[in-house]
Amino acid sequence: MNIFDFTLMKQRNEKITMITCYDYTSARMLTGTPVDCLLVGDSVAMTMHGYKDTLSATIEMIALHTSAVCRGAGDKFIIADLPFLSYRKSLSENVTAAQMLMQAGAKAVKLENAAGNLELIRHLTESGIPVMGHLGLTMQLMHTLGGLKVQGKNQQAAERMKQDALALQEAGCFAVVLECIPNALATDITQSLLIPTIGIGAGPHTDGQVLVYQDLLGFNIDFKPKFVKSFHDGYAHVTNSIDEYVKAVRTGGFPSDEHCYKS
Ligand code: KIV
Repeated sequence: MNIFDFTLMKQRNEKITMITCYDYTSARMLTGTPVDCLLVGDSVAMTMHGYKDTLSATIEMIALHTSAVCRGAGDKFIIADLPFLSYRKSLSENVTAAQMLMQAGAKAVKLENAAGNLELIRHLTESGIPVMGHLGLTMQLMHTLGGLKVQGKNQQAAERMKQDALALQEAGCFAVVLECIPNALATDITQSLLIPTIGIGAGPHTDGQVLVYQDLLGFNIDFKPKFVKSFHDGYAHVTNSIDEYVKAVRTGGFPSDEHCYKS
């Protein structure tokens, strides 16, 4: 997979699949699956570090997780998130942030929103750093959005988002994530762009879909937004296995002869 395959897949009507990934062991598992690309998202701050939102993600945190994922799934197209404020400083600091993620092994970076970012997107793409855009419910703006809610619901907001998507395409983004927006708006944006859209809570008509690994596998029991489908009951499987282990140790069933050194 490279950035041109994203557009080719859109042209061929082939759905793009993306999953977040934050660690080596999960990356090893995902490398053997047909998923098209992996995202080291800033949701790492929540899923792996227990913060309540993504504002606590730092560039060092994302770079560390990116290098672990790249060691486990180096053959996949890996995108890393530029975290909160890391790309809203001087051009030099913004480029250094993107450089850290690319040197950790990412093949592209993702950043949230269009306003104020277009010049940087142009600069990064011209410097050899592919950029994925992200519009809709962008958590890094949660306080200016007045909380976490579906975006683009009225005509004015919808039109603004469509213009932002076109501006991201024009600035050089190779794809755009659309998060938590009405199906009709996601469809309209998808049809208006030459580059693909990857949806999360944006309905079935985007060019691809992304889910958070822990949500997809049912590990996250604390929070289940409407758009999440768990394809596995990970939480129950893990806790049942731990129960079995504890029982086996307590009853003397583990370790048995096969797990022991005889001499
Ligand atoms: O960090 C993340 O998990 C994301 C997805 C919601 C696209 O950016």
